[in-house]
Amino acid sequence: MRTLIRNGRIVTAVDDYVADLLIDGEVISMIGARIDVEADRVIDATGKLVLPGGVDPHTHMEMPFGGTETIDTFSSGTAAAAKGGTTTIVDFPVQTRGHSLLETLETWQRKLDTNKPVIDVGFHMIVSDLSDGRLQDVPALVKEGVTSFKLFMAYKGALMVDDETIFEALTVAGEQGMLTMMHAENGGVIDVLVRRALSEGKTGPRYHALTRPELAEAEAVHSALAIAELAGAPIYIVHLSAERSLQHVGEARQRGQYAYAETCPQYLFLDESVYDSPGFEAAKFVFTPPARAKRSQDALWRGLAFNDLSVISTDHCPFCFKGQKELGADDFSKIPNGGPGVELRLPLVYDGGVRTGRITLNRMVELLSTAPAKLFGLFPRKGTIAVGSDADIVVFDPNRSTVLSVENQVSLVDYCAFEGREVHGVPETVLSRGRVVYEDGKVTGKPGDGQFIRRTEHMGTLSPQATPTTAIRVR
Ligand code: URP
Ligand code: ZN
Ligand code: ZN
Repeated sequence: MRTLIRNGRIVTAVDDYVADLLIDGEVISMIGARIDVEADRVIDATGKLVLPGGVDPHTHMEMPFGGTETIDTFSSGTAAAAKGGTTTIVDFPVQTRGHSLLETLETWQRKLDTNKPVIDVGFHMIVSDLSDGRLQDVPALVKEGVTSFKLFMAYKGALMVDDETIFEALTVAGEQGMLTMMHAENGGVIDVLVRRALSEGKTGPRYHALTRPELAEAEAVHSALAIAELAGAPIYIVHLSAERSLQHVGEARQRGQYAYAETCPQYLFLDESVYDSPGFEAAKFVFTPPARAKRSQDALWRGLAFNDLSVISTDHCPFCFKGQKELGADDFSKIPNGGPGVELRLPLVYDGGVRTGRITLNRMVELLSTAPAKLFGLFPRKGTIAVGSDADIVVFDPNRSTVLSVENQVSLVDYCAFEGREVHGVPETVLSRGRVVYEDGKVTGKPGDGQFIRRTEHMGTLSPQATPTTAIRVR
């Protein structure tokens, strides 16, 4: 099957030009000023942007969490992603106590085989138990293309791990070319604040935000960076939300540490005023970390523009308001933490970032596609438009607008955190490995069109000696 995309404005992290693009099977085979070949399908992209498909390195489909499970399956969640111009997600198998890392991977592979994805899917590994020599599985995990860990410094009694585990995991990850993602919040402090609030009868959803202050995040970010430096390993802070956290990342990078961070649309476009919503409505915004003060939003945009923040992911973690968020109707600490958004990232960031002049178009592509592809071992197969790369492409109409609403959402979740917001610029046609998976407002991709993607090591070609480090190794 040959598809010709004609006369589009091709924008990558570094390029911006009008050209034709030919897809042969699953890959891009030719880019040129004028391509005159027979094709099975011609897409006229005149006046449209032609962007590399989005890479969202932080989603949670079918994740057991907070006494329930995220509502999107790998089929429904990846269909939603396709609508939003994302053609690859990297999701998280969750290791629970008593299970090995490889067993955990097998469990998630079965989920993927049952509810097959519409677009491509890679896996990180959430590590929660390093007893019984569990790290011995790591080389096999890397061979399977799982080349990153996620560790939690919060969620006491569930996923939170101690400093010993963090140091051990980071050390092995560094040695094996893996990147460690850190959920950085001080879980001990938060646990006490939550108990205090509940004992004072403060049970409503707004107390979720009040018991997870910015400083509890910033302290953990600082600690995580220091432990990574001690381990001589690269580190990636997930869902960074606060100005002071960002300062710590910026300082680490200035020192030459391989330290990276992502933020998410909820921290760029929502602020703490969402917790003033009446009644239990604010439960829709119970995600972690919580939405912050407007001051932090400005700092995050600066971080994105000047590269202290490397990626915008979604942390799509959808729980329905009815029946799921309601588990915490009498106690905010029982509201499952997480919010939806996998289908909204590109429209929100284009409208609120590029159109407002906060970031350039090239930078947007870098943040949503190229940088996550590079950091997580997918580049140059994913993350750019080049001959030989997978034909993961978004034909984007910058002149059409839409209103974000649960009414036109693909995700199975029963609310939209950005309900009623009008955005200018929408994906028109989305191709995943050459196949049209979204077109004219409809998901056309089928479960099974996507596949599991084995990723290479983080910065695979960089020698470990190149890592400036104060690593403590006693041998
Ligand atoms: O609220 C959130 N972010 N839930 C998902 C789990 C996590 O911490 O990433
Ligand atoms: Zn997290
Ligand atoms: Zn998450």
